[in-house]
Amino acid sequence: MSVIDPRDQLICLRAGDDLSESGGMVLPPIAQASIFRKETMEELHRELGQEHLATVYSRGTNPTVRVLERTLAELERGEACKCFASGMGAIGALLFGLLKAGDHVLFVNDIYGPTLQLAQKLEDFGVSHDHILGGSVEEVAAALRDETRMIYLESPGSMLFGRVDVEGIAALAKARGVLSAIDNTVSTPLLQKPITLGVDLVIHSCSKYIGGHSDAIGGALVGPEDLLERIFYDAYLLLGARMPPFEAWLFLRGLMTLPARMERHRADGLEVARFLKAHPAVARVFHPELEGNAGAHSGLFSFELGEGGFQRAVEVANRLKLFGNAVSWGGAESLVMTGHKFDPAGGPEPRLPASLLRLSVGLEGAQALIDDLAAALG
Ligand SMILES: Cc1ncc(COP(=O)(O)O)c(C=O)c1O
Repeated sequence: MSVIDPRDQLICLRAGDDLSESGGMVLPPIAQASIFRKETMEELHRELGQEHLATVYSRGTNPTVRVLERTLAELERGEACKCFASGMGAIGALLFGLLKAGDHVLFVNDIYGPTLQLAQKLEDFGVSHDHILGGSVEEVAAALRDETRMIYLESPGSMLFGRVDVEGIAALAKARGVLSAIDNTVSTPLLQKPITLGVDLVIHSCSKYIGGHSDAIGGALVGPEDLLERIFYDAYLLLGARMPPFEAWLFLRGLMTLPARMERHRADGLEVARFLKAHPAVARVFHPELEGNAGAHSGLFSFELGEGGFQRAVEVANRLKLFGNAVSWGGAESLVMTGHKFDPAGGPEPRLPASLLRLSVGLEGAQALIDDLAAALG
């Protein structure tokens, strides 16, 4: 049975097919222009006053990027969207645009490493943060401070893919007058719609499944119009991490096949995860759907080897033929990545198991991937 909302199927397929802007082309033209000339100076002045809506200069609004923004907003059931040069560009603009010195951010669950590094950097500017791993409403409530302005979630979390009570935490944030934001990259807008669960702002790295072909870097923020407008003027225009029109076009092309790809990534990922769970050389598999948690999951998950620690994980990765050794994920080709970059043995007990391996299950077919894993695990 399909896990994709039929409405989303059509939104994705018609992503760039806006007759009013593209004259019937099935994808919009790539608006490769830095500036947009106006008939009169008065018109230019008027549009400069609403640059978040008007095409004046491509560091602000660009017609091709705008088609992608409209599509992502529709898929997330949000009011507005802004696209960025990368997922980190989006996260940076979110924090920089909505916070000021004296504010506090609470990060909940396993958070993408560079996001926490950025939070650390913001401490230099007077924005403090805490990071908690327990994601129950009670644990989050206990960690809130008077100065907390934002709760920032990842669910499923990075690397171990644990879920938290997104709806409960969003309700808590609303009750306490705190903004809530979630990095929804792993689920894509198709498998989880945080805004319908009460979350204010949704972050995406488009570089993963949305692009889907490992050929483009981009990011997006979706949320209420007033917040997106604030982020536009207070961060987006000033930091300059804008998405180029060609990348927007690649992401629109990616969206056309996103529903079909996600069905396949999910089904094959689940089959590979089940195989690993039953394998004697595997200690644990970190895959939320396998654990019986509600909600469909993508093709990204991790597992821990029973014996051999970090060195054995490196050995297994090197023996795999169909899983490439590469960072990132979400493309057509399967990838493997160790949880650690060096052997944590001898140091304090690491949070991620020493022998953790993360897999991004691509489109080679579940059986071929299982055969490859069986051979590598020996
Ligand atoms: C969960 C998550 N969020 C954000 C990012 C950052 O995205 P980008 O690489 O497009 O800046 C990544 C990248 O790996 C990620 O895995």
